[in-house]
Amino acid sequence: MKFLVLHGPNLNLLGTREPGIYGSLTLADINGQLAQLATELPCELMFFQSNCEGELITAIQNCRDECRGILMNPAAYTHTSIAIRDALSAVGLPCMEVHLSNIHRREPFRHVSLIAPVAIGQICGCGHDSYLLGLRGLFNYVKNS
Ligand code: DQA
Repeated sequence: MKFLVLHGPNLNLLGTREPGIYGSLTLADINGQLAQLATELPCELMFFQSNCEGELITAIQNCRDECRGILMNPAAYTHTSIAIRDALSAVGLPCMEVHLSNIHRREPFRHVSLIAPVAIGQICGCGHDSYLLGLRGLFNYVKNS
């Protein structure tokens, strides 16, 4: 069982980017923890990060035959991207939306997720654990469906 782990814009800067909000782990640290969890579940993961909306959309489209689901932190595109939402709907793979911070207790513009209505769930506010909880949830969802 293979999943695509997708990270949106500015997440390549984790570790130094506003650590009071996003924590001190780097993206490589988070991917490493996900890889460790993947060996336990077990499942396979493919990782991709981009600052470009179109590249994220292409990654979603290209994984549709190879992957059983998508674990995604769309970052700021959460709040703006109809195109990413449409790509997720188009491929029809289960997607778990994750965020490091609790988007619902931050600025009002972060309260709306355009992705949530096409996701199987949303986990936010748990720091890097959001990713680990999200992968467990996605894995169990696919396993039981
Ligand atoms: C984020 C929350 C978004 O609002 C923000 O634009 C990000 C990161 C999070 O993981 O908390 O870039 O997705």
